[in-house]
Amino acid sequence: MSKSGYVIEEILSANAIAARVAVLARNITDHFRDTEKLVVIGLLRGSFVFVADLVRGIDLAVEVDFLEVSSYGAAMESSREVRILKDLSGEIKGRDVLVVEDIVDTGHTLHHVLDMLQTRGPKRLEICALLDKPSRREVEIRATWTGFEIPDKFVVGYGVDYAQRDRNLPYIGTVRFTG
Ligand code: IMP
Repeated sequence: MSKSGYVIEEILSANAIAARVAVLARNITDHFRDTEKLVVIGLLRGSFVFVADLVRGIDLAVEVDFLEVSSYGAAMESSREVRILKDLSGEIKGRDVLVVEDIVDTGHTLHHVLDMLQTRGPKRLEICALLDKPSRREVEIRATWTGFEIPDKFVVGYGVDYAQRDRNLPYIGTVRFTG
């Protein structure tokens, strides 16, 4: 697809994503099968499409909540600091919690978010990330479940943006700048 100044090249089709999300949902269901209710926390905004598909595959009682944190810095680079823009609506003390993230890149965002959530005393706290760029990691973070490992390329689609565009693409693609 061609946009002004860049082209998007598909790397993960909508079908491939759907098949992988179904497997992740089954694994999560199995892991939390004895839960009273699972609190699924989507990190806004990039995870909103993934959360919507994932929760529909999870065969458990589920509560959905969202947390929005912001990284400081330039649009294309993740920074080390995060601040809370929108906190959770519900409590997680003593609850089973699944944090859902779009991309683990340097790992700083999830590192800060997990530290913060741990202080609230969840019973179990697991992570499901759709995409992982292991070559970019600066802090040791390992998601319990990962959809796809991808190379160090900037991606968009399926909820993930470039400057607040392209979240609505049904597939995931890399961005190549055409100048
Ligand atoms: P980290 O703190 O470096 O792990 O950054 C994670 C966050 O950076 C993700 O939740 C995304 O919001 C953003 N990010 C990292 N890589 C990309 C990308 O390729 N496209 C769009 N956003 C990205």
